[in-house]
Amino acid sequence: MQTFNVKTRNFTYPVVIGNGAWRTLRKFPFRKYTSIFVITERGLWNRWGKLFLEESGLSAVTTLLVAPGERSKSLRVLERLSGQLLKQGADRRSCLALFGGGVVGDLGAFLASVYMRGIDCIHVPTTILAQVDSSVGGKTAVNLGEMKNLIGTFHPGRMVVSDFRVLSSLGHWDFRSGLYEVVKHAILGGPALCQQLEASLPRLQLKDREALEAVLPPAVKVKVDVVNRDERERNLRMTLNLGHTFGHALEEATGYRRFLHGEAVGWGLLAIAQLGERLRLLAPEEGTRIARLVQRLGPLPSIRDISTARILRLLPQDKKTVGGKIQWVIPERIGKVRVVSDVPRRAVAAAFQDIQEMDPSLWAPA
Ligand SMILES: NC(=O)c1ccc[n+]([C@@H]2O[C@H](COP(=O)([O-])OP(=O)(O)OC[C@H]3O[C@@H](n4cnc5c(N)ncnc54)[C@H](O)[C@@H]3O)[C@@H](O)[C@H]2O)c1
Ligand SMILES: [Zn+2]
Repeated sequence: MQTFNVKTRNFTYPVVIGNGAWRTLRKFPFRKYTSIFVITERGLWNRWGKLFLEESGLSAVTTLLVAPGERSKSLRVLERLSGQLLKQGADRRSCLALFGGGVVGDLGAFLASVYMRGIDCIHVPTTILAQVDSSVGGKTAVNLGEMKNLIGTFHPGRMVVSDFRVLSSLGHWDFRSGLYEVVKHAILGGPALCQQLEASLPRLQLKDREALEAVLPPAVKVKVDVVNRDERERNLRMTLNLGHTFGHALEEATGYRRFLHGEAVGWGLLAIAQLGERLRLLAPEEGTRIARLVQRLGPLPSIRDISTARILRLLPQDKKTVGGKIQWVIPERIGKVRVVSDVPRRAVAAAFQDIQEMDPSLWAPA
């Protein structure tokens, strides 16, 4: 188990990750709150709620349920939850425990940031993505129709506790999807973390706890370090967008139905490595190493039928666009990326065509 501290403007909070992390909540000052509300999903809470309460030492909690899935990140659900909080007596000194993946975390933290102008929350992330990424850094959001994360706030949790045991019930695809984000963090983190990931992959795929312990804490540390240096997304935080510019375009081009988010990021990482090579920013051996890491997670859904023109049209809609210019996060080598804004369209098109020519059915899982 490891603990990392994240500094915000007003306070510092611990991110505890590893087997037994929930037990560290026993030291959390719950006593200073008038009531604790758990925001979660029914299936998840049925499976893990009892153990969570035992380990954390919490007893009198009220659970508020949201339906699984991205659609719950909406103003409608936010309104319903606010009403439920009010009805059940939540006041300014209530605390929300956000028990779930990135959907529960983003929605619940947004709710905490606006309910009575802001109450405290803690994150209890239950997916890989939520453990290594979304629970840390304080970004909250809901979607507006198809516009992902359009409405949101900054509202960091007071503590993040990521226990690995909860990952054991994740479905194969959700588990694997989260690993693409771990690959992203490894590329940002540097050769040592990449090597660790390469060595752990076969056992990681089996949700082996030791393999998780070897890889997830250093992966979340990459995020912690970035957030500590740049809380409100000036430049550095943008680097976390690696692989996501192409990834978001692919998700949009397929109406969010074909890929799990991580799978789209997997393709996005392959594309950005190609783009880096084409711009001569990234050495071919490094590009190959990045591609190999992605491919070892196994086959990805095909992208053969998606036209390059459509992807090019969708790219500038990325939220990270500034003044109409896409901010490309391009690896220069493993452990170093550069943000480039003037990339020629034909290089982008060529990089996308490069990955379209890859045959994902040949990628056997490690
Ligand atoms: N705030 C940020 O900085 C940030 C960063 C990255 C992503 N996000 C957001 O995170 C969201 C995606 O998060 P996610 O991938 O965790 O998705 P998710 O919360 O939808 O969880 C994925 C699936 O796993 C299920 N699940 C969750 N935990 C489980 C467990 N332990 N066992 C079995 N099933 C479980 C859920 O019901 C869901 O079906 C997106 O909305 C994205 O915008 C936010
Ligand atoms: Zn992502």
